[in-house]
Amino acid sequence: MPTIYIDGQAYTYEKPAKLLQFCLENNIEIPFFCYHPALSIPANCRMCLVETGLPVKDRQTGEYIREADGSLRIQWGPKPTPSCTTDLVPDLHVRTHRTSPTIVRTQEAVLEFILLNHPLDCPICDQAGECPLQIWTYKYGPEGSRFELEKVHKPKRVPLGPHVMLDAERCINCTRCVRFTSEISRTHQLTMVQRGNLNYPITAQGEPFDDPYSLNTVDICPVGALTSRDHRFKARAWEMNYTPTICTGCARGCNADVWVRDNLVMRLTPRKNLQVNGYWMCDEGRLDYKKYNENRTSGVYAKGIPVSWEDALQQISALLARYGEEVIWVGSAYASIETLYVLKALRDKVSPHAPLYYVPHIQAGWGDHLLRRDDRTPNSRGAEALGYTAISPDNLIQLIQAKPDVLLYWVEDDIALAEILPRLPEKTAIIAHTYNRSANPERLLYEVAASTHLESFATFVNEDGLAQTVQPARQWQQMKPTDWFYLPKSRLDAAGQAVDRWRNPAYIPDCLPTYQILISLADRLKQPLGLSSEHLPLWETLKAKLPFMQSAVYPKLKRKEIFRHDQLSFAIRV
Ligand code: SF4
Ligand code: FES
Repeated sequence: MPTIYIDGQAYTYEKPAKLLQFCLENNIEIPFFCYHPALSIPANCRMCLVETGLPVKDRQTGEYIREADGSLRIQWGPKPTPSCTTDLVPDLHVRTHRTSPTIVRTQEAVLEFILLNHPLDCPICDQAGECPLQIWTYKYGPEGSRFELEKVHKPKRVPLGPHVMLDAERCINCTRCVRFTSEISRTHQLTMVQRGNLNYPITAQGEPFDDPYSLNTVDICPVGALTSRDHRFKARAWEMNYTPTICTGCARGCNADVWVRDNLVMRLTPRKNLQVNGYWMCDEGRLDYKKYNENRTSGVYAKGIPVSWEDALQQISALLARYGEEVIWVGSAYASIETLYVLKALRDKVSPHAPLYYVPHIQAGWGDHLLRRDDRTPNSRGAEALGYTAISPDNLIQLIQAKPDVLLYWVEDDIALAEILPRLPEKTAIIAHTYNRSANPERLLYEVAASTHLESFATFVNEDGLAQTVQPARQWQQMKPTDWFYLPKSRLDAAGQAVDRWRNPAYIPDCLPTYQILISLADRLKQPLGLSSEHLPLWETLKAKLPFMQSAVYPKLKRKEIFRHDQLSFAIRV
């Protein structure tokens, strides 16, 4: 395999690559701003400069020339070169800031130049704490500024569109945002205007930046020039914990990080998964997080009145026994594989001949070339694979109207429940597991708080048949000690303890994973399902039994410390 030498150390490579990308993949830190692995390479920030050279060959013999000490003679380039555009070639020799005083001075000079007109308003900037410019300046920048004149002023607080705010003074003209709209979302909505130090990105006059993927420009902007209008000034980066999860806004199953403070979800950001979503997610998916905070069902309600879990489960099991074959089972394409599997097992015990339904949520035309899909549920493929049959709300109502004296057992589809509830016959008894409180609580015999995938382990199968298991990201009231191992920890405190000081008890819902409740109901019916209500053994059972679970990977225990400013992957989320 061809070899290259970085700061004197040999590395081999298999396929052609750019030097900066190779360094990123091999944990060799080189600071950069304008490069992004999914975008074209303009090499305009000059932050990634390195010295490069090649061994010299004797023109007569074709042999490498050696120095007196036996080492190869290297012909170094006359000037530093940007590593983001440098191709790997055999025997390439590279000197980074670790071994080259020239590169140290170059990096200082580049940062001094970039900061000439930068407002240096980190204390009030949303990007502070996760800002590459801030981090690289601390690590590689000059000690202070020699610039004593008034800085250039550019437009500030410009609402570019419904979701993105521009502060042009902070922009360092890397053009990542412009390239994103040209090459990824293909709306071509942003362009650079003005020249020289007056340069900044904006839309055509009078045109809003309403790209359905506009918030990705906020993620990739290496400074605080583009900020999310939704998230601005709500939380500092270091106040939040983050946990890997997936977006449940459509059948794509985009990988995301969920950021939590006070046990409230503050934002979702995309997490790299080249198999599913690349580096991106859509605006609608990421702004959907408010449903996890607002109007959550907490505890159990009988016709809108709070009751104890114990009483409710006794009564629900008695109702299941009484109705038997007269139960209509409606699962959900929002529910996890775990819940759907256990619901099916309970159905097999209570009313083995009854069909299993779910309501599809297809929004024709919402899908696009990139990530959005018309199917607005995360697990319809999983529901189908488990034998659930799609039924429209109208057909379901017709079915019940033909025989109204039934028990409708409803699981985790708040949207369809809101649609059908006012239209159902009065005689129909309804038990529902919901994430958010129903608008007609008195119509529900029992309304049971269901954990979302942020308060439980959950597996979803995306449109391509990829099963993805996620771990809890926030606290719930009835947590067991083992659950705590997977929950995100905050920064270590002064005593080195990973104690979360940002969790507010007022925002801790009293909910349980529906699969645990269903297993408990079966036990009360004296018809145990033979399934563990602990997640890992249940997940292992499913993995052994269900072919489509083969791609699922169990989440790792949560890392102990999440904020390390010298951690490249955190500083530059690519
Ligand atoms: S707004 Fe941000 S992403 Fe766009 S050019 Fe300026 S610094 Fe780069
Ligand atoms: S990252 Fe190489 S020049 Fe900007």
